[in-house]
Amino acid sequence: MQLPISSFYFKILNGVNNLDRADYNLEGIAPNKALLVEWLSSKEEAKIKELFDWAYRVKAHNIGEKVFLRGLIEISNICSKNCYYCGIRGGNPLVERYELTEDQVVAGALFAYKSGYGSIVLQGGERSNSSFTKKITALVKKIKEVSGGKLGVTLSLGEQSRDTFLEWYEAGAHRYLLRIESSNPDIFRKIHPVDSKHDWESRVNSLLDLQEIGYQTGTGVMIGLPFQSEEDLAEDLLFMRNFGVDMVGMGPYLSHSQTPMAKWNHRQPPLSLTLKMVALLRLLMPKINIAATTAMQVVESRGREMAIKAGANIIMPNMTLTQMRDKYLLYDNKPGVEEDAEISKSKLESNLKEMGIEIGWGEWGDSKAFFERQ
Ligand code: 5AD
Ligand code: SF4
Repeated sequence: MQLPISSFYFKILNGVNNLDRADYNLEGIAPNKALLVEWLSSKEEAKIKELFDWAYRVKAHNIGEKVFLRGLIEISNICSKNCYYCGIRGGNPLVERYELTEDQVVAGALFAYKSGYGSIVLQGGERSNSSFTKKITALVKKIKEVSGGKLGVTLSLGEQSRDTFLEWYEAGAHRYLLRIESSNPDIFRKIHPVDSKHDWESRVNSLLDLQEIGYQTGTGVMIGLPFQSEEDLAEDLLFMRNFGVDMVGMGPYLSHSQTPMAKWNHRQPPLSLTLKMVALLRLLMPKINIAATTAMQVVESRGREMAIKAGANIIMPNMTLTQMRDKYLLYDNKPGVEEDAEISKSKLESNLKEMGIEIGWGEWGDSKAFFERQ
């Protein structure tokens, strides 16, 4: 496949004379932060469209065009943390708390399995007491057992001790998502309470633990946070690349009316900023998994599909029981709260089909970057 070498292609390759070595992407090239900032600030629609198309081609060339689905199960909204942006923060007294039973989670996992989703994501508020961590261990084992080991299990349950991460890994979880939220420790400090529970360095250490244990390690950031500049976002991209993550889930920051941050005077940037982050990350890291996240769907109803067209390759359809969905509200206007797993699934499938996007049924869709790193 030969790419048209447009002027901006030369520009982003800035200083790279040997175009063969570029191999359609920026993987082996020292990233130029100034150029990333320029792209993130660009308002030239035609150029931005070209960037998205380029990122799509880089994805197709390196990991194929298929989208992989992960069934998302929001297992509990109980959380011991107090992030200033999040609707289910422990300090929000207005949230009706729930925790799914093992049977409910396993039923969800079986639905995913029978629907041909290669894997599931168990997401929930952060808790680290041993009755909780043991329950997760048992749950992961059970899910592996009922699916004959075929269903991949990703966990997204916050920061835990290395021992807990290891226990869950040995139980059969093979991927873990833990967003750094912002690679800038100053921004991190502004959007979290300042205490030992909300500590940027501990979070980085958790990511290092995960990677070292052998998880496919995912991180991500929120885009359009108060105090966040295009420079910060460029640094976020460089953080992910320097860390060598296998998966990324990023999305726009969205306000939740019952949080401290809702009172901060803040304007939400357009979705195109998030899409540019996706596209640039794809150029920097051609072989990782990049998710088109639910928050994108809030800004534009087809936001996730647009992200797929800009280089993302993973979608996580919500499979949480309908009666719990409106209790897991990280931000206002969460989409699909009235739907059940079947409806969310068929809506997404028909949207993807309409856009000519193929689904990788029954496959784990592991990060190619992970295996190359091993
Ligand atoms: N807007 C967007 N994303 C949010 N998250 C939490 N609250 C919000 C919000 N208000 C994201 C965080 C967290 C993930 C589970 O959800 O990035 O890591
Ligand atoms: Fe808890 Fe995660 Fe929300 Fe923070 S973002 S309050 S850790 S659920």
